[in-house]
Amino acid sequence: MPESTQTKVLVLLGSLRAASINRQLVELAIESAPDGVHLELFDRLAELPFYNEDIDTAEPAEPVVALREAAAEADAALVVTPEYNGSIPGVLKNAIDWLSRPWGDGALKDKPLAVVGAALGGYGGQWAHDETRKSFGIAGARVVEDLKLSVPTKSLDGRHPREHAELAANLRDIVGKLVAEVG
Ligand SMILES: Cc1cc2nc3c(=O)[nH]c(=O)nc-3n(C[C@H](O)[C@H](O)[C@H](O)COP(=O)(O)O)c2cc1C
Repeated sequence: MPESTQTKVLVLLGSLRAASINRQLVELAIESAPDGVHLELFDRLAELPFYNEDIDTAEPAEPVVALREAAAEADAALVVTPEYNGSIPGVLKNAIDWLSRPWGDGALKDKPLAVVGAALGGYGGQWAHDETRKSFGIAGARVVEDLKLSVPTKSLDGRHPREHAELAANLRDIVGKLVAEVG
């Protein structure tokens, strides 16, 4: 299928760690995407400057332009993140802040967005996932609240998420339902 006719999903990852388990979830989401769906990881969150209104000008830094363009080109967004200290990792929160401006007209405005992820704790990062949904909702995205997947990393037993059939099916189902929300 030509790329132009595919549904495009922007993927944002809240961990910068090379061996990130959340990155493995991203890999699984990409390799198991339904036909006609193209998932694209924006892998440059570490390059974004800290949000500052003084530098959010008509010509912001190049990584900011790239992030906003990637979001503008997407039909939907999938956010994959761990939990840090009961909340959203700073690198992801910073991206939300950049995407929330111009206020009321951000690049993800009204686009369906789902949040999933894995964390060490027994609740799999649920607090962070709830707060990420809240924050993206305030930033203007159309958060699909009932698409939830919070994976306790211990449940993976050191294996890649793709080796867990039920988890892989759940993630594929979430991506399918997210794309079904595209108007
Ligand atoms: C600074 C920091 C704070 C953390 N806080 C939490 C937490 O609040 N809840 C939790 O379940 N895990 C917490 N963890 C553990 C992470 O969930 C775990 O390291 C996870 O594997 C990170 O995701 P990644 O593998 O994608 O990098 C924290 C880890 C770090 C480095």
